[in-house]
Amino acid sequence: MSRVLITGSTEGLGLMAARLLADDGHLVTLHARSAARAEDARAALPEAESVIIGDLSSMAGMRLVAEQANSGGRYDAVIHNAGVGYRELRRIPTVDGLEHVFAINVLAPYLLTGLIERPDRLVYLSSGMHRSGDPGLSDPQWEHRHWNGSQAYSDSKLFDVVLAFAVARLFTGVLSNALEPGWVPTKMGGPGAPDDISLAPVTQAWLAVSSDPQAMVTGGYFYHQKPRAAHPAAQDPEVQDQLLSYCAALTGMTL
Ligand SMILES: NC(=O)c1ccc[n+]([C@@H]2O[C@H](COP(=O)([O-])OP(=O)(O)OC[C@H]3O[C@@H](n4cnc5c(N)ncnc54)[C@H](OP(=O)(O)O)[C@@H]3O)[C@@H](O)[C@H]2O)c1
Repeated sequence: MSRVLITGSTEGLGLMAARLLADDGHLVTLHARSAARAEDARAALPEAESVIIGDLSSMAGMRLVAEQANSGGRYDAVIHNAGVGYRELRRIPTVDGLEHVFAINVLAPYLLTGLIERPDRLVYLSSGMHRSGDPGLSDPQWEHRHWNGSQAYSDSKLFDVVLAFAVARLFTGVLSNALEPGWVPTKMGGPGAPDDISLAPVTQAWLAVSSDPQAMVTGGYFYHQKPRAAHPAAQDPEVQDQLLSYCAALTGMTL
């Protein structure tokens, strides 16, 4: 039995992965942005061990989530699932003055990775759209470019793979992997999404707990439990170090 924390697990793929893990006898901690959403999560999965609360769009909220995670004891695995999508119509600044897709999709997993007591396994939700991402950090907060929500999302999902691979390189004894779940009809995916939703939460749950040798790897990128090629830039230590330095400068925390 493993203890697993899943961020953004009030609905969608986070909640579905939580259900799979709980049904398999694992202890699952859910996470919600607010007390009201935590009630929804508790009602959706009453067998969850607990629900931690914090809005991942602010650094204060990210720190709150890490504090609650650490106060409950060490997790065997953390699934960085919370995310916002590719249909944002304009640049939304967070309370920290950051662009909110970057804050929620990239900075939150970075800060939580550094602040939560190191688990044995880390799993990062990316997307097939990461292949259109730009690994350059010339304007990561979209202060100078014309807003493009799809590009902001693609960049953020590429950075998730960069982060997963950087952690795999730097953290000894930790398995760190990324995956794409397919394009499926959640709140984010939209009702017309074409892929099989029953398969979409399986790989992240498998990477978090399975003793299958194919899941016990690090620095991998997966689709439906099979290795898949990621954007080549994600393997580049220079790209990884640039992202880590940038996030360290924003947060004051080095991985
Ligand atoms: N669905 C797809 O087709 C697809 C494809 C590729 C990758 N993915 C990735 O899979 C992951 C899960 O996506 P999904 O489709 O399950 O999305 P979803 O149904 O929209 O669920 C997203 C989850 O993240 C939470 N969240 C968003 N912003 C948050 C914030 N500021 N603070 C705390 N929690 C926050 C949401 O909470 P609320 O419910 O309160 O908003 C919700 O629990 C994402 O990382 C996404 O990029 C999804």
